[in-house]
Amino acid sequence: MFDKSGTERYPLIKALEQQLEQVSFRFHVPAHLADRGPHPASDFDLTELSGLDNLFEPAGVIAESQRLAAEFFGADETYYLVNGSSAGLIAAIWSSCRRGEKVILGRNIHRSAIAGLIWSGAVPCFIPVKEHIRGIPLNIDVPTAEAVLSGKGVSSTAMVVTNPSYFGISTDLDALRTITARRGITLIVDEAHGGHFIFSPEFPRSAAVCGADLWINSAHKTLGALTPGALLHRKGGRANPARLKNGLSMVQTSSPSYAVLASLEMICREQEDGWREAIRLSRYARQQINSRGRFVCLEASMLPTGFFMDPLRLTIKADKVALSGFQLAKILKDECRIEVELAGHNNLVAIIHPGHRKDDIDALILALKQIGERYYSPGGTEYAHESYPLPDMALSPRDAAESSWRELPIRDACGLISAVTVSPFPPGIPVLIPGEVIAKEIVEQIIADYSRGYNFLGLGADPSLPIMVVDTD
Ligand SMILES: Cc1ncc(COP(=O)(O)O)c(C=O)c1O
Repeated sequence: MFDKSGTERYPLIKALEQQLEQVSFRFHVPAHLADRGPHPASDFDLTELSGLDNLFEPAGVIAESQRLAAEFFGADETYYLVNGSSAGLIAAIWSSCRRGEKVILGRNIHRSAIAGLIWSGAVPCFIPVKEHIRGIPLNIDVPTAEAVLSGKGVSSTAMVVTNPSYFGISTDLDALRTITARRGITLIVDEAHGGHFIFSPEFPRSAAVCGADLWINSAHKTLGALTPGALLHRKGGRANPARLKNGLSMVQTSSPSYAVLASLEMICREQEDGWREAIRLSRYARQQINSRGRFVCLEASMLPTGFFMDPLRLTIKADKVALSGFQLAKILKDECRIEVELAGHNNLVAIIHPGHRKDDIDALILALKQIGERYYSPGGTEYAHESYPLPDMALSPRDAAESSWRELPIRDACGLISAVTVSPFPPGIPVLIPGEVIAKEIVEQIIADYSRGYNFLGLGADPSLPIMVVDTD
């Protein structure tokens, strides 16, 4: 159970508890009346009642709770997000860029950043993710980012960096901070998967420490908050708080879940022992998995200079085993009752959290040992590289989104302009965004990846993979 000693640190939870104590007869939404619904977790599911403040204009317990969160995370301001990091990214991009301005983004951005581009009307310049290790993408590197920033005609207002990547790989954020600060560019860090980086020096350096202007944590992913609770932090004078607040009020619901808000308040506390134990268990898991020579679990020592790894993310690749990541994940689920975070053609990702026990880790190690013996293949299996070429851009995402569209099977779309974001899921990294030209190689790669088992967001469910294109007729 959550230890609430020091209740002054939990103003929102205290107010919610008072609400439950003080009221016996409810004549307001939500319909489950707090504790009479079928949901086990409905107690704190209240609304903007007296004493519970307002998320869009906080002046009471939410304001105080967010102030304490900002203090905890080293920000000037923290905004609670009840629509995930997606809402934070959209508002961060919209508040930092105007129509027609250039924004630099790593190509491994989440699809919600594209919504930020469409909404703001900003024009993207992408930094390709060139570096791969054993077929697994790393992250953007600093020299390439600097080259894009210095490119002819690229005078940008913001840079968006996904750090860490879904695979737990961080780039050199300090170096990126230096080059963006030199040019007066707002640095927005999508730290959706790295909210825990502030908790231990064994994690890669956090956006907070590196001096980002805005950064976003999916607290529901790695910090134990309820889904889709997330945090947007602002520090320094570059990002505009008024625009940010206004942006958030446009992309978030006006009926925030107080259960989610309370869970965000709860995660703002030291949990050193939990993180230390999780790191210890992940070290043990890596050592055990790698010692058997059937699978490779990425280690920090395998990475090129300038990249860092979240120890809690186990990115596992078959080495001397004839299985794809999809096949491995299916066997783990069907035969060993083990569910992992993500499976790709040539890898899978399992995440270790502070709540894990050694038994859990041993179950994973044993399952991989047994599967490794059963599917042993001395030559291993070479799997295709899963990267896509960077498409040419014919229209800004906003112009493409606003144009007329028509639908046709992807194989007939070569040379046309995409009207939508297409991304294999998970992890949801776009291979096409609105305004980009659908090159033949991209079509071929999408068809190949679909046949390997990837699902695609942005394409119809029909096997012909229908795509919306800009209707230029
Ligand atoms: C890198 C990255 N950024 C942002 C998001 C969006 O996060 P949320 O689900 O909290 O909206 C995700 C979701 O998976 C993600 O992987």
